[in-house]
Amino acid sequence: MKLLSACLLFHLLVTSSAIKWLAVGRQNGPLRRSDCRRLKRETIFTKDQSRMCTENADIIPVLKHSSETVIKSCKTLFGRNRWNCSSIEKLPKLSRDLTIGSKEQAFVHAFSTASLIQIIAQACASGSISSCSCGTPIRKRKELEPDKRARDAMSTENRHAFIGCGHNLRFATKFARNFADVPWDKRLRKTTRRPTKNLRLNKRSLTNLHNNRVGRQVANKLVQEKCRCHGTSGSCTAKSCWRIVPSLEKIGKHIQVLYGESIQVRAKFNKKKEKRVLIKVTNPFKKAPINKNVKPDQLVFYTISPDYCKADERFETPGTTGRTCEEVGDGSCESLCCGRGYTTESIKVVERCDCKYYWCCYIKCSKCTKLIEVHQCR
Ligand SMILES: *[C@@H]1O[C@H](CO)[C@@H](O)[C@H](O)[C@H]1NC(C)=O
Repeated sequence: MKLLSACLLFHLLVTSSAIKWLAVGRQNGPLRRSDCRRLKRETIFTKDQSRMCTENADIIPVLKHSSETVIKSCKTLFGRNRWNCSSIEKLPKLSRDLTIGSKEQAFVHAFSTASLIQIIAQACASGSISSCSCGTPIRKRKELEPDKRARDAMSTENRHAFIGCGHNLRFATKFARNFADVPWDKRLRKTTRRPTKNLRLNKRSLTNLHNNRVGRQVANKLVQEKCRCHGTSGSCTAKSCWRIVPSLEKIGKHIQVLYGESIQVRAKFNKKKEKRVLIKVTNPFKKAPINKNVKPDQLVFYTISPDYCKADERFETPGTTGRTCEEVGDGSCESLCCGRGYTTESIKVVERCDCKYYWCCYIKCSKCTKLIEVHQCR
């Protein structure tokens, strides 16, 4: 009984919030500021997230857009893997693969934080968030700034047209850090007080915060510079440069590489820092590396993921039975079906074919039936 209630308490603590805000993307219709409080009641936002949502009048549509794109891109990036990101569609219900400290959880944390930065930075530049505007231009020492007085005299609009409008990384990074980190920051503070009973929650907070930081770093690292010349007839005597965040696709691919290279960690009390920190788990059969510190661009996990082959209640994963697979290449049946084999079915599809253009102005096609083979994992 004692064990059961302890388990229950733990369950409540760990499921009370997290990346649940990603469920905003599945809300129907446009969202307004008044929805910020409702989303808290529905446990999609934490109390602090709901406050931030209310304080920034027009952030809610941006949050929605951000979570929609995260869900879509994650499914595309992992569509051919055994773990295909389908669990983030169940949010705000958290399935275990996203709470046990897996590398999939690490990916989702880093990617959703990076996406917040990407989308907010852009939204600031396009004028859809009133509390932020263009990012500050990059100042180059040799560059001739347009005459300051003339620039100040220009209206904001003209100024944007003249010097351009960079993505506002500073605002976006700050917002993303506050918004995504706040639930974990709080828990970290609670569980850092000694003696704490909840070492697991402490480790989980450290891990999620670290992976969120990786996401912020990636978004900022991949930033590109864009310059515009404004001299007489393209002479480029004056130039202004500003920062542009890359596409979410590019960010996602980069974080997916980090996911592949992610490392296992454990939390250890560091006497000097007087707190627990994450350190690399070392292989007892190999010579221990000298440096066990985690690098700031390494995604970290503390639970080794299941292989996601079979339906597994412990991890709440559905397994790959019934998944469509390809004979060769990415998403190959061999890997996706985990050696269980697959069924092949020929399916008739009707296509338009032999299209001819008739002058003027229409196209006439015939209908052809084609047989295609569909493979499905057993
Ligand atoms: C992802 O995997 C789940 C479980 O195996 C499956 O139900 C779903 O159809 C898959 N999604 C895609 C897009 O393949």
